[in-house]
Amino acid sequence: MSSTVIVGSQWGDEGKGRIVDLLSGQVDMVVRFQGGDNAGHTVVKGKDIFKLHFIPSGILYPDVTCVIGDGVVLNPEGLISELDDMKSKNIKVDNLKISCKAHLVMPYHIMLDKADEHRLGKSMIGTTHKGIGPVYSDKSARSGIRTQDLQDLKIFRTKLEEELKFKNAIIEKIYKMEPLDPGEIFNRYRDYAKRIGKYITDTSLLINQFLNLNRRVLFEGAQGVMLDIDHGTYPYVTSSSTTAGGVCTGAGVGPGRLDEVIGVVKAYTTRVGSGPFPTEIKDGTGDYLREKGNEFGTTTGRPRRCGWLDAVILRYSAMLNYMDSMAITKIDVLSGINPIKICTGYEYEGKRFYDLPCHQTILHKCTPIYEEVGGWNEDISGVKDFEGLPAATKKYIKRIEELVKVPVSMISVGPERSQVIIIDSSVKKRLFDRDKRSTLIV
Ligand code: GDP
Ligand code: IMO
Ligand code: MG
Repeated sequence: MSSTVIVGSQWGDEGKGRIVDLLSGQVDMVVRFQGGDNAGHTVVKGKDIFKLHFIPSGILYPDVTCVIGDGVVLNPEGLISELDDMKSKNIKVDNLKISCKAHLVMPYHIMLDKADEHRLGKSMIGTTHKGIGPVYSDKSARSGIRTQDLQDLKIFRTKLEEELKFKNAIIEKIYKMEPLDPGEIFNRYRDYAKRIGKYITDTSLLINQFLNLNRRVLFEGAQGVMLDIDHGTYPYVTSSSTTAGGVCTGAGVGPGRLDEVIGVVKAYTTRVGSGPFPTEIKDGTGDYLREKGNEFGTTTGRPRRCGWLDAVILRYSAMLNYMDSMAITKIDVLSGINPIKICTGYEYEGKRFYDLPCHQTILHKCTPIYEEVGGWNEDISGVKDFEGLPAATKKYIKRIEELVKVPVSMISVGPERSQVIIIDSSVKKRLFDRDKRSTLIV
């Protein structure tokens, strides 16, 4: 396989970063293709914990080229603080490349993100306040400023001054806040340009050159399918394409370039921010999962909402991403919960839904249909192979495969590199016929 896509299959924080880190040992390049520092990808290596927001999770391997692709929105200040963090931990960043087409997060984007959320009050999305919605809005409105503008500061200044006239009018007249000073922003970004200018290049060309030479490329998704701008629980979503399709536009590669898609699936479900979440657990079991799974946002520190695994969402993810296999993470967190519930479908006004209902009212109001499976009490964090897992754990994993109709290729039992059980997916794939996946066994 020359290219592999890693995507989140739920509402983000599935453990994509640790899976990318694991697979990075076998590749030549890792590419982030969408999102910004709303993402928080954790990689644990020995005693060191890395919380990556912009820098791809392949950075711990000095020979791997790490790309921040065209579809990413970049806040230079955030990137620079991450680069400093890497330096303090003796991690080399010489192989970092930043797309010349990536859009820049500007101070007004962050201000407007916060102000918009405040305006929405109870209907707020619960964003990360990183300016993501406003910067992608400007990109679509064709008034954005890109990394390449940092390489021609005259153009940068003209664009900034023009845009700020409009943004300051909103800031002052609608939100009654102090206007921003273009000179101050210009000076800051000029300094950023000095620091990050050397990394800016034509990354889509570079990625395609790697693929032409049969070098192995890993595409690292941020967020998850249910936060996708088109396919997620709109408007409670992020503003980019988080599915495998987003790789083509966000990295600048044709669809035929993608050989394999792995969906990362947390063994239960979490969500940060507002929006529908049918399998949310509101009693002590939810608190248990939050504490044991350390379910607090990597970016914002907010407590994550916790719930049971939802097979409807996973089937939706399998369909949209055309997943080849699933990497199941955090299964160790379920030890001690008995029974464990899996949502197999939804019920709403006497009807049953096994595919994600198109109308979101149903998702808000439906009752999940649960199936109970036996739990286990053993600590499984040291288990090295599938056979070594308790019978109940194996049964849980098998049931997920049956319900989603996608084989499991990896199971993680702890956050460290060594705590992953690799299952030979090439053998397992033969057991599943991709074209028959629409027939459900429930
Ligand atoms: P990402 O955004 O998808 O990369 O996921 P995050 O890094 O935001 O959240 C996943 C969290 O779970 C991180 O703190 C990881 O260190 C941790 N984690 C990942 N896999 C496992 C696992 O198998 N077991 C446990 N206990 N923790 C894990
Ligand atoms: P990773 O890559 C979990 C959520 C926010 C909010 C919504 C919109 O670590 O999985 P935004 O700031 O993007 O406008 O917020 O999306 N969100 C995430 N939730 N993991 C993430 O990234 C997220 N990135 C954004 O909490 O509900
Ligand atoms: Mg995260």
